[in-house]
Amino acid sequence: MSARAFVELCEVGPRDGLQNERRIVSVADKLRYIALLAGAGFREIEATSFVSPKWVPQLADAEEVLPAAIAAHPGTLFSVLVPNERGLERALACGARKVSVFTAASEGFARRNINATIAESIERFRPVVARARAAGVPVRGYVSCAVACPFDGPVAPEAVRETCARLAEVGVDELDLGDTIGVAHPDEIERMLAACAEVRPMEQLVLHLHDTHGRALACAGRALDLGVRRFDGSTGGIGGCPYAPGATGNVATERLAELCEARGFATGVDRGQLAEAARFIAGVLGPAAPLDPAAPLGPAAPLGSAPPPG
Ligand code: HMG
Ligand code: MG
Repeated sequence: MSARAFVELCEVGPRDGLQNERRIVSVADKLRYIALLAGAGFREIEATSFVSPKWVPQLADAEEVLPAAIAAHPGTLFSVLVPNERGLERALACGARKVSVFTAASEGFARRNINATIAESIERFRPVVARARAAGVPVRGYVSCAVACPFDGPVAPEAVRETCARLAEVGVDELDLGDTIGVAHPDEIERMLAACAEVRPMEQLVLHLHDTHGRALACAGRALDLGVRRFDGSTGGIGGCPYAPGATGNVATERLAELCEARGFATGVDRGQLAEAARFIAGVLGPAAPLDPAAPLGPAAPLGSAPPPG
């Protein structure tokens, strides 16, 4: 009997899942959550972000979380978001072995999320990618709003391909395509993936779906049909971006695992242990609603500081 083909699931709950929660989860609970996820067998877990704590106070404890996670789970790859050279320095000082830069296919979201135009963000990433790679640390490049933008509306596949090409030109190792606000239909995902596959082969692309309209699994199914073999998910479907109004959580990792297995793929993820992680983090977060998507954008929202950019 031949071995089943493999689909790689990256768990982003500790980063994307927790960055949008009103309550700030303690370091101890984050590490317990990460331990349960590591026990479920993920090769890669996105652990936290080294972004400005004024912009995302929920992850201001990255210096405590990442080194402890690496020490406790040496067999797991912990990736982290870095928006600039300062973030990279902080991540490397904590022993990061993989980092992710992040921009968008739409100018409106780039401005609100990282206070830069797409072109400025790419130039900001150039030294980040060079320094990371010189340190032997691979770099993921996220492209948000790969189908639609909460500020600019629908996003053309050509715009997504263009941002992918710019990221590839600065040397990122992988491209991760985000339906940040979870509005995609499978046909739109297909057109977007076809455009991006002109930059990197389909099996190397990563798909990062949010599930605002309940179509994320249908989109993942279409992507599997097209040859995509790498997906991000967040336990229990928690999360969202605080700078994407109206967006809800990521597609639930357990549902992705179920879909892949039903299609005959192996994922290496123990769904029983994953369910335990989902129960744990749901208990920690409680019934409280995530940040109000209609709340004002920018660091002013969580901290009451300067008005948001743009
Ligand atoms: P800015 O305000 O333009 O930058 O923010 P700045 O250079 O003026 O810095 C502002 C303050 O932050 C300064 O401190 C800096 O020192 C500090 P102050 O002088 O006011 O005391 N600072 C930092 N501190 C720690 N670490 C750093 C850092 N950088 C600056 N790395 C910036 C620009 C990019 C920093 C800001 O916009 C930012 O941090 N944005 C991150 C927003 C974010 O994390 N969004 C969510 C993640 S993306 C996402 O969720 C989408 C994704 O899931 C895919 C998808 O779904 O599509 C990935
Ligand atoms: Mg996301």
